[in-house]
Amino acid sequence: MASSGNLSVLALLISLAVTTLISPANSLTCSSQSFTNNKLYTQCADLPSLSSYLHWTYDSANSSLSVAFIAPPAQSDGWIAWAINPTGTGMAGAQTLLAYKNSGGAMAVKTFNISSYSAQSIVEEKLAFEVWDTAAESSDGVFRLFAKVKVNTGQVNHVWQVGPSVSDGFPAKHAFDGPNLQAKGTLTLTGTNAGTTTTTTAADSKTKKKNIHGILNAVSWGLLFPIGIIIARYLRTFPSADPAWFYLHVFCQVSAYAIGVAGWATGIKLGSESKGVVYKGHRNIGIALFSIATLQIFALFLRPKKDHKYRLYWNIYHHSIGYLILVLGIVNVFKGMDILNPAKHWKSTYIITIAVLGGIALFLEAVTWIVVLKRRSSKSTKPYDG
Ligand SMILES: *[C@@H]1O[C@H](CO)[C@@H](O)[C@H](O)[C@H]1NC(C)=O
Ligand SMILES: *[C@@H]1O[C@H](CO)[C@@H](O)[C@H](O)[C@H]1NC(C)=O
Repeated sequence: MASSGNLSVLALLISLAVTTLISPANSLTCSSQSFTNNKLYTQCADLPSLSSYLHWTYDSANSSLSVAFIAPPAQSDGWIAWAINPTGTGMAGAQTLLAYKNSGGAMAVKTFNISSYSAQSIVEEKLAFEVWDTAAESSDGVFRLFAKVKVNTGQVNHVWQVGPSVSDGFPAKHAFDGPNLQAKGTLTLTGTNAGTTTTTTAADSKTKKKNIHGILNAVSWGLLFPIGIIIARYLRTFPSADPAWFYLHVFCQVSAYAIGVAGWATGIKLGSESKGVVYKGHRNIGIALFSIATLQIFALFLRPKKDHKYRLYWNIYHHSIGYLILVLGIVNVFKGMDILNPAKHWKSTYIITIAVLGGIALFLEAVTWIVVLKRRSSKSTKPYDG
């Protein structure tokens, strides 16, 4: 496993080096793209996500914008879409042009008014502005969407997207990975610096927040809590580790809890900022984790004395909640990684770390059993002293 982790890091470095070598910042891929139908556009941009390109000509005299949008659909029978959002920056409010292959195999273009994120509010109807001369074609795994639209402002927010399939003329939901969510920007049509800018600052700070959230929670729920449990379960077998194991355990779990609360708060904040996109499972597990961990911390103050008759029940309760946190914490770290979709080596690093902890636990489990069994047999050989 370690070598596959190293290999993926190496592959990443090589692919980074190759892409920086073959695409110097100032040469655009789009400027080498041409169109079969002799269409010419005055401007083009390599869009920053989903391997997409936009070509356009703006005629300010009559406010007509002619565009060609090029992208590979998520699957060969999928769809590609380009939209102008006159009222916001994301998908909600997007006036959308969508190109797909219909059941007869011919390319078709439809317009959708997307008022919010739910499927019911994606309605095939006329857009808020005039649209004409729509056409689409496909070749080499890439779809091309052509259209002319009336735009009265010098700058528009645009959104683009690719999806996996179309059934009965209705597009299936697209993925919600990083590149899908970052597929938006601003298109400047007039003036000297006409071009595209992406809302990189906003997107970057969002990504940064998500990364911080991910690191805090992976360290807390995914690492410190399990280590704390290992300490409690295995160190206490050794009489010489008493009471050190207890303080180590408490230290581990209290710091895990503190970091976890910070991570949890960033998650709730992220959830409230992400309108329309809800990761129900991840969110619910997160809330459950926070609640039972809080309970666990407070249960410390209710701990009966060692020889109290209820101490056994308290122990059973404390241990089961502890193992529940262990399982849910690790599950939620993986769920979170699926959402955040970080570079592969982060996931493999985490898997390796958990596997190593699991290996240590397994080894200590064996040692504990040996120690306990030895202790028992040495006790039973002792003369009975009544
Ligand atoms: C705008 O002007 C261009 C060039 O003169 C012309 O081709 C196009 O049809 C006009 N569009 C509209 C909406 O009048
Ligand atoms: C798009 O849908 C919203 C919500 O149903 C509606 O308010 C709006 O008028 C529609 N826009 C167009 C251009 O039909």
